[in-house]
Amino acid sequence: MNHRMLSGITPSGSLTLGNYLGALKRFADAGHDTDGTFFVADLHALTIAHEPARLRRLTRETALLFLASGIDPDRSTAFVQSHVPEHVALAYLLECTAYVGELGRMVQFKEKGGRPRTRASLFTYPCLMAADILLYETDAVPVGGDQDQHVELARDLAVRFNRTYGETFVVPALSRPAIAARVADLADPTSKMDKSALEGASGVVRMLDSPDVVRRKVMRAVTDSDSEVSYDPHTKPGVSNLLEILASCGGVGSPAVLASRYDSYGALKQDVADAVIGALAPVQARYAALEAEPGHVDEVLAAGARRARERAAPVLDRARAAIGLSEPAS
Ligand code: TYM
Repeated sequence: MNHRMLSGITPSGSLTLGNYLGALKRFADAGHDTDGTFFVADLHALTIAHEPARLRRLTRETALLFLASGIDPDRSTAFVQSHVPEHVALAYLLECTAYVGELGRMVQFKEKGGRPRTRASLFTYPCLMAADILLYETDAVPVGGDQDQHVELARDLAVRFNRTYGETFVVPALSRPAIAARVADLADPTSKMDKSALEGASGVVRMLDSPDVVRRKVMRAVTDSDSEVSYDPHTKPGVSNLLEILASCGGVGSPAVLASRYDSYGALKQDVADAVIGALAPVQARYAALEAEPGHVDEVLAAGARRARERAAPVLDRARAAIGLSEPAS
């Protein structure tokens, strides 16, 4: 049987190099025996203050970047989450499975919640994410390190639901990248590179940044106080981040091996800039081609949503029946 992989990206900002290395590139690299489901998680973008027109624009941009990154719509299912209403329906059943205590422990809620006007959906959002995963009988969820806790919760909810109501869901596994699980902000290597950062943030490389902008951001990256190039994420987070980026953008060797080839930060940064520009160039070229073919993108997303609904509906029906909901008489 094919290996079922699923992942989503929230359109809350222009996608970054972190999204590419931690997620998109891995979707595209998945082998031919993988059955991939990839979606733009637009409903997740509603959990914090948002602007409708910007959300619509970013949803489109993110969908185009999925395809431009090499997700093949003939082999995979690519769609926009809100086009498949089964996600919200199952999310409610999982809100009725999750406990307030475990949702309150989610790091993302602890960081962003607790402010005035925090939306209720920020608290319940991990149940929606669990629904996203469980609807497609997913085996593996390729995400960056920042999503571990949410995937763990999806596993816990699947196990609890199965134990309480009978076997209903496949219990998914987390799939972490070997390197670049957490690409750091170039200007502040102790924080993750975050697409929700301010538009012009100097430490955030966007997938659609021009080569000049990429080079400028990389050359200005914060390194460490001494000048020795070595790989140690704890004591030398800035240089180690650059080495990880280089290794995952086609550099030959592990970050530690790559470190031994440099005796100055300047040379390392030049090579990182070249590698990132080289990795993004084909994606940007395909993006431009797709932008010129909006009808084609619409068709791909509509076909993806149809296929997703065909898959999701029987799983939702199974969960509804297991939990005790009745069907209307036909
Ligand atoms: P999101 O949109 O924040 O991030 C999308 C993907 O990119 C990865 N990522 C990173 N990887 C490495 N370094 C970084 N600096 C970096 N920043 C982001 C994330 O780990 C993620 O894989 N809730 C999710 C979207 C989602 C989802 C799902 C994912 C919704 N439903 C179901 C998997 C399965 C999110 O907001 O990711």
